Amino acid sequence: MQFVEAHGARIPIVGFGSMRLKEEAGAKAIEAAIRNGYRHIDTAAFYGNEREVGQAIRASGVKREEIFLTTKVRDNNLKADDFARSLDNSLKLLDLPAVDLLLIHWPNPQVPMAESIGALNKAKRDGLTRHIGVCNHTIALLEEAWRETREPLVTNQIEVHPFLDQSKVIEASRRHGMSITAYCPIARGRVPGNPVLERIGAAHRKSASQVSLRWLVQQGFIVIPGSGKPERQKENFEVLDFSLSPAEMNEIATLKRPDGRVVNPPQAPKWDV
Ligand SMILES: NC(=O)c1ccc[n+]([C@@H]2O[C@H](COP(=O)([O-])OP(=O)(O)OC[C@H]3O[C@@H](n4cnc5c(N)ncnc54)[C@H](OP(=O)(O)O)[C@@H]3O)[C@@H](O)[C@H]2O)c1
Repeated sequence: MQFVEAHGARIPIVGFGSMRLKEEAGAKAIEAAIRNGYRHIDTAAFYGNEREVGQAIRASGVKREEIFLTTKVRDNNLKADDFARSLDNSLKLLDLPAVDLLLIHWPNPQVPMAESIGALNKAKRDGLTRHIGVCNHTIALLEEAWRETREPLVTNQIEVHPFLDQSKVIEASRRHGMSITAYCPIARGRVPGNPVLERIGAAHRKSASQVSLRWLVQQGFIVIPGSGKPERQKENFEVLDFSLSPAEMNEIATLKRPDGRVVNPPQAPKWDV
């Protein structure tokens, strides 16, 4: 496994997105992912599956300290008291004393940044998470968050895949020494069937999904693809054993489109374009 280092955090570059995996079948699918080699699991209070994630980790037989575990506090729980309650509930469901990375899931303009970032800092000071970071933060929000934080923000988890231009926010995150965690790294299933990605994949005996993931990790981005299917979990994990040429990297970079975003809920901030 390769790792991405940022502000003292050492994060496995290929992680597993657990969203949508719930109940018994979900816990089994997450356990399969760990058995298939994943050592970085991404969950969130909002996904309603933290109990299943905790169960899957224990059932896998892999030691807790070998797994990098991320959870998130949702945007309607960013006031200090709500934040502490949400995290306490997450840890109870996971049945763990702490996570490795705690993220603010979406920014909330109704809560002062000093309060939400203060609560995030407190969680780290209290030993409830080893590292802290954010999701879906634009350049302006990142600047504000960094002004308020005393502890380093180790990642900005944002949507990144070949069909979306995120260069500006990536550059701003990197200026702060943050890692980028690419969510929806196969564009929620829009990558398979793309003629360019399929053609490049065929040349390497890889799938279009593997090409998309490789294109991301080759730029140093952490990826967290999700699948409930063990064979696809394996496929998505096997992206560190080949490389794309500079010409292939550049050709994939031409696929970005202004309307390529797949996640844009009502609480989304005004994105950088
Ligand atoms: N921070 C945030 O705001 C945020 C937002 C969205 C997502 N996330 C995180 O990012 C993770 C990944 O995002 P995502 O699940 O939305 O999108 P994704 O990983 O880009 O795509 C997942 C979808 O593609 C299918 N799939 C997976 N591997 C495949 C393969 N090799 N070939 C063909 N189809 C494949 C899956 O179906 P099957 O299950 O049927 O295989 C699923 O429908 C989430 O689980 C979550 O942890 C974070």
